[in-house]
Amino acid sequence: MIIGFIGVGKMASAIITGLQKTEFSVIVSDSNLENSKEKARTLGVDFAASHQDLIEKADLVVLGIKPQVLPLVLTNLTINKPILSMAAGTSLNRLAELSQADLPIIRIMPNLNAQLLKSTTAICRNDKVSDQLFETAKQITNSFGTTFEIAEKDFDTFTALAGSSPAYIALFIEALAKAGLKYGFSKDQALDIVSQTVLATSQNLLLNGISPNDFIDKVSSPGGTTIAGLLELERTGFTASTISAIDTTIEKAKNM
Ligand SMILES: NC(=O)c1ccc[n+]([C@@H]2O[C@H](COP(=O)([O-])OP(=O)(O)OC[C@H]3O[C@@H](n4cnc5c(N)ncnc54)[C@H](OP(=O)(O)O)[C@@H]3O)[C@@H](O)[C@H]2O)c1
Repeated sequence: MIIGFIGVGKMASAIITGLQKTEFSVIVSDSNLENSKEKARTLGVDFAASHQDLIEKADLVVLGIKPQVLPLVLTNLTINKPILSMAAGTSLNRLAELSQADLPIIRIMPNLNAQLLKSTTAICRNDKVSDQLFETAKQITNSFGTTFEIAEKDFDTFTALAGSSPAYIALFIEALAKAGLKYGFSKDQALDIVSQTVLATSQNLLLNGISPNDFIDKVSSPGGTTIAGLLELERTGFTASTISAIDTTIEKAKNM
């Protein structure tokens, strides 16, 4: 099976890295021919002379372009192959409208941890997608992480919780590292300490099946340092601020 990528930026490149460990062949077409050649060379895949050429050659067309660019690109193409889109906030219905054809369409929401083959990716389909094609699509998403099959109505929430949240988690890591810097660690050392701690904490929760609240109780000794810091985090609005950021992300995804 040949998978064709229109738009080969950060996310598509990460996905292609995962696909290289599978039997799928990849062909790419980026913003211009020079870029297509360069990305193909870097990723070790084929390039197409144009988007239309890519559509002719591919069995599945993956849209790796930004949501804002989709209308311009899709209205200038004749697509007669199944589509897989990763565009935030762009529904299956909207994709069908833009492609001006009655096509099988799959929508996914990956995250940048695809670079490590550890994306948490949501997937859904329209009613033109056969079970067989959907299984193939899940094989693709499993090649760069874990796949969650969810209803399309939950995509905007998933986008906030998994697509955008790596940036919020990185902001938390940055804030902790700045605190380390404030108290005399070098920035690099503070970042290393904090990143390793975040990684191990997630693994601890996942591997031991322990809830965050139970974990927090284990770390907090009576009258100790942790409970003092936790209460200060909540006094300054940590949970409310986090949920408010998720509300805003969902709202933005709904209005893309
Ligand atoms: N980044 C994330 O964490 C993330 C998470 C979830 C979903 N997504 C989705 O993934 C998609 C891509 O995001 P990204 O972060 O990978 O963006 P990106 O790095 O900016 O990649 C977009 C790519 O599309 C190319 N492009 C622009 N106009 C084009 C055209 N007319 N035809 C073909 N290619 C064109 C760009 O080339 P130029 O650089 O030359 O313009 C660039 O290589 C978006 O729909 C986004 O919603 C991203």
